[in-house]
Amino acid sequence: MLKKFKLIALLSSALFLTNTAFAGETTADWLLSFERMKNFKSVTDKTYAKECGECHFAYPAGLLPSASWEKLLNATALKNHFGDNAEMDAATLERVLDYATNNAAEKSWYKRARKIANSGQAPLRITELRYIKRVHEEIPANMIKDNKDVKSLSMCNACHTQAAKGVFDSDTVNIPNFPDYN
Ligand code: HEC
Ligand code: HEC
Repeated sequence: MLKKFKLIALLSSALFLTNTAFAGETTADWLLSFERMKNFKSVTDKTYAKECGECHFAYPAGLLPSASWEKLLNATALKNHFGDNAEMDAATLERVLDYATNNAAEKSWYKRARKIANSGQAPLRITELRYIKRVHEEIPANMIKDNKDVKSLSMCNACHTQAAKGVFDSDTVNIPNFPDYN
């Protein structure tokens, strides 16, 4: 009974809030996907997916707050993006920045994005977020840095088999070369 009430309350608040505070997600998204109770919204913009999926997995925008995306996604910062040059033309950059900020952690209803928004942190790296650090702190270096099929904790999709769908649940993890982990 209580569960049912909660669901109705959540749905009606979603209907009110869409297209206002949470402009990045529509009511249809909400009704279609109860996944949001656990996960992140997967990347839905083709330009972002292409430009930001070249060197690594295209991170769902809800993994960082807009303050982080603004620090990362400007012409100066992209010239030296973690040691790489990730420059793009001004129109493309504007689109990518708009997508990232409109779908940033604080604009998303997905439960794990809320957690990140509520942390108040705005680092340059997802892997610097306390929440992300905590859930990975017990994984030894030989499974990450020294693992030729992972190399870095930044390569989310090396272990999270459904990362592209925005799903990071521990039961969907498979660490390459360590089939018995978990
Ligand atoms: C030319 C290659 C390249 C492109 C293009 C690129 N990146 Fe990166 N990105 C990197 C490298 C290299 C790192 C550091 C990875 C590591 O430390 O293992 C990185 C790291 C990141 C991180 C931090 C990940 C962490 O450790 O938490 C974010 C966030 C990020 N990139 C976002 C983007 C976005 C958004 C775009 C699209 C505008 C983009 N990147 C395009 C090369 C690139
Ligand atoms: C070396 C493999 C590996 C990489 C790379 C990795 N993860 Fe994980 N991640 C794990 C494992 C294993 C767990 C489960 C930890 C546990 O529950 O004991 C986990 C848990 C999580 C959780 C919590 C899931 C839950 O059910 O509570 C989130 C969120 C997450 N990872 C996000 C990310 C993101 C974002 C990245 C990339 C920036 C990333 N992970 C990179 C292995 C990895």
